[in-house]
Amino acid sequence: MVSMYKVLFFLLLSVGFINAQNFSFIAMSDSRGTDNGVNSEVLSALVNHAVKNQPDAKFVLFPGDLVDGSKTDPQSTISQLNRWKEVMQPFYNNPNMVAPKIWLTVGNHEIQHRDDEANFRKLFPEILLNGPEEEKGLTYSFDFDSCHFVFVTSDKWYYGNPEDTTDDRRDWQYINNLDWLENDLISAQERGTKYTFIMTHEPVFPTGGHLRDALPNLGKNFTLPADTSKLFHYKQRNKYWDLCKKYKVTAHICGHEHLYDRLSVDGIYQIVAGSSGAPLYNFNPKYGEVLSPDEGGFELSYEQAIPYYDFLGYQHGPGKNSQISEDFKGLKAFEYVVFKVQADRISVDTWGAFPKPKSFDTMQPEIKLIDSFIIMRYE
Ligand SMILES: [Fe+2]
Repeated sequence: MVSMYKVLFFLLLSVGFINAQNFSFIAMSDSRGTDNGVNSEVLSALVNHAVKNQPDAKFVLFPGDLVDGSKTDPQSTISQLNRWKEVMQPFYNNPNMVAPKIWLTVGNHEIQHRDDEANFRKLFPEILLNGPEEEKGLTYSFDFDSCHFVFVTSDKWYYGNPEDTTDDRRDWQYINNLDWLENDLISAQERGTKYTFIMTHEPVFPTGGHLRDALPNLGKNFTLPADTSKLFHYKQRNKYWDLCKKYKVTAHICGHEHLYDRLSVDGIYQIVAGSSGAPLYNFNPKYGEVLSPDEGGFELSYEQAIPYYDFLGYQHGPGKNSQISEDFKGLKAFEYVVFKVQADRISVDTWGAFPKPKSFDTMQPEIKLIDSFIIMRYE
């Protein structure tokens, strides 16, 4: 009898161990829309689908642009964020998830007014305050099981000088506290965490409508040769990516581009999970590409994009994809992304639905698996 209990005990222990190695988390971003700042129809459909179909998911990562926000009325932004929380209730009420259930930071839309950062902290008091002094609740990190997660704000009130009329960068996004980030990554390495995920709102390698801004942030009127005095943001972007390489980051997860896509650079994945309801974009313009009026336009023509492609090292011209790497895969779909953590790999499944015909912000009803890939553990 005793030996049977022993067997049962070890069986339970081993099941517990396997579970500790196998859990999932969800990434999604950019849900702004017209229902008090939220695309509640699309976001709600994705949230309900995830709760029903992803029982192993322990929490959600949401790196910004939850709502439209406001330049002039911070009370309106508060109201919009409360509406967003209502739509996200199925996650907050999900007993399979672990509190705080939703980890998040701001995008450019939540920090348009000088009061917005403090209000954001008050609305999400469960978010950790272990980041740099001036970015408390926006930049922070935590461990879960074998993984380390770092949210780093790439958007802040106010990185730029609003009085400077010569600055043609419409946003001033960059990662400011790289020293904090490096120390955080060193301590995670010392603790022996197996996988590291970093979330910022802005992509490192823009893929769609944000070729002129995002983290390289070259500005609206960029021409070659580069004006070196304006390259501060670009250099910060490169320093950030150097840290990702040095500390073997598993993946950079972001939004800002209202699209789904993934690519790898230096063996590290960038995953854009930016279409939880915000109006869908088109990808970077390709050589000779023509869109019908129903498909919307490009923010830049192919010819206008060439100085950016050349400077950023994007592949372009006949037969090229106008992206930083050949393994780029993108879908113009609404989606959420599920990361399943295993001992030697991360299995990534993306669930989504395509827009209704001639629409950029309404979704067809069927949510299905639209992409799957594997990220092997960096040894
Ligand atoms: Fe954004």
